[in-house]
This record gives sequence, C-alpha cells and structure tokens, in this order.
Amino acid sequence: MPELLPALADRRARRAFDPRPVAPAEVELLYRAVSVAPSHGNSQATRLLVAEAPATRDALIAALNEGNRGWAAAAPLLVAVASITTHESNPRNRDGSEREMWAFNSGIATGNLLAQATEMGIVAHPMAGFDEPAVRAVFELPTEVRVLVVVAAGYPGAAESLPEDLRGREDAPQLRLPVEILVAHDRWTAENATTFREYRERGGASR
Ligand SMILES: Cc1cc2nc3c(=O)[nH]c(=O)nc-3n(C[C@H](O)[C@H](O)[C@H](O)COP(=O)(O)O)c2cc1C
Repeated sequence: MPELLPALADRRARRAFDPRPVAPAEVELLYRAVSVAPSHGNSQATRLLVAEAPATRDALIAALNEGNRGWAAAAPLLVAVASITTHESNPRNRDGSEREMWAFNSGIATGNLLAQATEMGIVAHPMAGFDEPAVRAVFELPTEVRVLVVVAAGYPGAAESLPEDLRGREDAPQLRLPVEILVAHDRWTAENATTFREYRERGGASR
C-alpha cells in the first residue's frame, strides 16, 4: 500500500520486544499523538494509565489473559487506554435515544498512538485480552472510568525470544478484506456482510 502513510501500512501487532526502555522523548510523543486525537464535542475523555512501578507492572501483567501474559510481560512499556465515560455528551437520535461515543473516541486516540509508535520504529500491540475489573483495581479507577485496551510497546526484538508457537506469527502476511467487501455503494449488499473467515475460505487474501 505505497499510497498510504508508512505509519499505517507498516504497523503490525508484533510480540517480540527488545528489553531496552523506550526513550522518554518518544514516550512523550506517544502521549502527544493521543492528545491530538479528535473526539466528539472535543470531550477529550481518553486517559492513558501507565504501569511504571514494578508492583503496578506485575499487577497489570497478572490482569492479562494467559495467552497475552507470555509475550506482553517482556514489553518495556505497558499502557492501558481508558475513557472517563461521564465526560462524553452523547449524540441523540430523533427519537431521543443516545449513542455512546466513548469507546469510539478512545479507539481513534489509540490508532494515533499506534501510528506514532510505528513511525518511530516502536512496536505497539493493543490487547483486549485482559480482565477489566482486575485492571481497574490496579489503577484504583472510579466506576465511570472504563478500560478499552492495554498496549504493550517497545523496540522490536528477535522472534527467537518468543515461545515457539508465536514465532511464525511475527511476519505472517497481513490479511485483509478487499475494498469490495469493505465499501457499500449506495446500498448494503450480501457481499458487504462477508465475514473474514468466509472470505479466506473462498481463497481470498489481500494486503
Ligand atoms: C481492539 C484490539 C484488541 C486486540 N487484542 C489482542 C489481544 O488480546 N492479544 C493479541 O495477541 N492481539 C490482540 N490484538 C491484535 C490483533 O490480533 C491484530 O491486530 C490482528 O490480528 C491483525 O494483525 P496486524 O495488526 O499485525 O495486522 C488486538 C487488536 C485490537 C485492535
């Protein structure tokens, strides 16, 4: 995808990390990338929860699902992305029903963080595989603060540092649905509803 920014096209959810800490100036740029993200009504309700003290790190790692713990514990930087849900003013439909935007806003902010990390040669791997009550307990979050993802970040490491079952996934092809499925022109079609699994079973794959 040469026409896209390298920071978008080259981003991969890699799992091997170099133990070197991320340079403070680069960590700051990751925070800045989040701070410039757009949000509905400019609510800016996204917050970054950084595990710095060894006890906080250990507790956050313990809150991850087992499948993530094995590789994410080696990441020098662990950051949970959270939202203060009560800071959002939800858009309303004509019947008065509301649409919650907090997860969407924090998703855009997380995308910014991932792109900025990629641009600096830093692996940033988002994880939804964690126990939210456990993460909430780690950071002593009030009830209105929800956790969306934990991002494991650091400079790329050698695939050999990973458990054998994960090694081959580091540079596996990045498989994506084609735009014909992604985009509905004027009306929804059965093609738009194709799942990634169905597409793969048809023998399709694209980057
Ligand atoms: C919201 C979200 C949650 C994810 N959770 C996990 C996770 O818990 N563990 C994991 O190994 N990868 C996780 N991933 C990474 C995806 O598996 C990965 O992005 C996807 O397989 C595509 O691979 P690529 O990012 O290298 O293109 C998550 C990604 C996103 C966006």
